Amino acid sequence: MASSLDLARRDLQTVWHPCTQMKDHEWLPMIPIVRGDGAWLHDADGRRYLDAISSWWVNLFGHANPRIAAAVSHQLGRLEHVMLAGFTHEPAIELAERLTALAPAGLTRCFYADNGSSAIEVALKMSFHYWRNAGRTRKRRFVTLTNSYHGETLGALAVGHVELYREIYQPLLMDVTSVPSPDCYLREAGESWEAHSRRMFAYMEETLARHAHEICAVIVEPLVQCAGSMRMYPATATACT
Ligand SMILES: Cc1ncc(COP(=O)(O)O)c(C=O)c1O
Repeated sequence: MASSLDLARRDLQTVWHPCTQMKDHEWLPMIPIVRGDGAWLHDADGRRYLDAISSWWVNLFGHANPRIAAAVSHQLGRLEHVMLAGFTHEPAIELAERLTALAPAGLTRCFYADNGSSAIEVALKMSFHYWRNAGRTRKRRFVTLTNSYHGETLGALAVGHVELYREIYQPLLMDVTSVPSPDCYLREAGESWEAHSRRMFAYMEETLARHAHEICAVIVEPLVQCAGSMRMYPATATACT
């Protein structure tokens, strides 16, 4: 098996990494991983690392989870892929049935995308399209929270608010309305989480009341702004309007 040093050298000759200033890797060692096991990642030299960020909060059920691996393997041997235009298959139907059963009343359909940013693009287009079909073509403005993050594609970057990711691309991004986030990071001493969030949410209510004629959707990260430094707000804040 190739050593960590060898893999790191080959990597740096051919791979560009996401959300990474590659120059940093002139002094910061790249960590090649050869296998995962629950919350642990193992490198080629026998060291292990605790994956405390769940590989960017995607790996919820642990690495090499036997149940998931068996289900994926079984499905790959039966039908690995079929286009979903004009065709369907039971796993796609069953997942949609189970997701819509969990979703709030009125959300009765699923549209599949293959990653978070694509899902955001789909949602933005769908909400614009809804109002267009309803004859309300002026409703095409998105409202977003300060410090939010929704992904790296151009639409997702536009509705995000973390300067680090978006400032270079600013000339390419659509104009959106940003309102102060109800997260509790800047909560005043003695103020409860809920009181702070409700007070901050007033900006959202005011924006919606004033610009309803041109707003097509509000986009939020439910309860925690992960990429924006794990800032949180209580569930009651989002339920107050
Ligand atoms: C809240 C949120 N939305 C969207 C995305 C984008 O997802 P993806 O990286 O799969 O494109 C992320 C990624 O971290 C995210 O945290």
